[in-house]
Amino acid sequence: MIINVDYYPIIDEEYRNYIMRRTDVKDHWLLEQTLYTGEGRRNLIKTLPIPVMGKALDLGSGFGAMAIDMAFSMPIQVYSTDAEDEMVDIAREIAEKVDRRVNYLKPGEIFFKNANIYELDFEDNTFDFVISRFLFQHLKDPAKAFSEIYRVLKPGGIVCTIDVDESFAFSYPEAPAYEALYAAFKKMQEMNGGDRQIGRKLATLLHENNFVDIYTQVDMQSGYEYTAAENMVHRFIRERFLAARNDIVEKGIMGADEFDQWIEKLNDEVELWQFTASGQVVAFAKKMN
Ligand SMILES: C[S@@+](CC[C@H](N)C(=O)[O-])C[C@H]1O[C@@H](n2cnc3c(N)ncnc32)[C@H](O)[C@@H]1O
Repeated sequence: MIINVDYYPIIDEEYRNYIMRRTDVKDHWLLEQTLYTGEGRRNLIKTLPIPVMGKALDLGSGFGAMAIDMAFSMPIQVYSTDAEDEMVDIAREIAEKVDRRVNYLKPGEIFFKNANIYELDFEDNTFDFVISRFLFQHLKDPAKAFSEIYRVLKPGGIVCTIDVDESFAFSYPEAPAYEALYAAFKKMQEMNGGDRQIGRKLATLLHENNFVDIYTQVDMQSGYEYTAAENMVHRFIRERFLAARNDIVEKGIMGADEFDQWIEKLNDEVELWQFTASGQVVAFAKKMN
């Protein structure tokens, strides 16, 4: 399918405006991540096997980045869904702002809806394509989620899941404060039922849930950069840890004072040259015809 990339800069501008205007939003770091992961997301979009006029579903869409990029670049129908109402509302607001400027979308080309991946309010055999990015790392029961996806896909429909695996994330020289905070963050996610090694498990889960033609790839990014304090990646990492502070402290993983000290040290770990690499597993599979 030919992808129309004309509106990506306008989408980015609307996200950037929103990020600057609404610093109070819960999971503000996730909004920032939307900008940081734009290139990888858009490279992936070029490869997505969605038929013209097909029906696509984005699960755990967050602030809607993937769904909005898809809707403004392909002649398809997109459902952008998330379990959190606030995120669904923000995604809708940003899509409306973009469309007011470019007047691209026709009625019925993008829908925003609250949806829990375990109980999707869609008929069987509804979608040509289902995508879910960075959601499975949070799920207690990924097998159940895949069986719901299987149900709502049409026969021959394709699922694409993209998620982290910590083995593909490293840096040199290592930064002790980052390592300490990351270990606490990982523990918190595990205690909430999530899994930062989900990437390597996606193919097996798809196979066990009757999907066929499973294909996987690892998308790596790397860089050798000077990490200045105002660097976006650094700020976004810091915000992500800060957003998890209460949960980490309440779960007894780290005391509040210790957490705050590591955050101070994290601030001192800037102003150095560092090689960083990170990767995501992308897994495609098909529902049998
Ligand atoms: C890390 S964010 C990913 C957002 C987006 N897909 C992206 O790539 O930027 C994970 C999202 O999954 C949502 N989520 C968590 N549990 C969910 C569930 N059971 N069903 C649907 N969404 C869920 C959260 O509200 C959050 O917005």
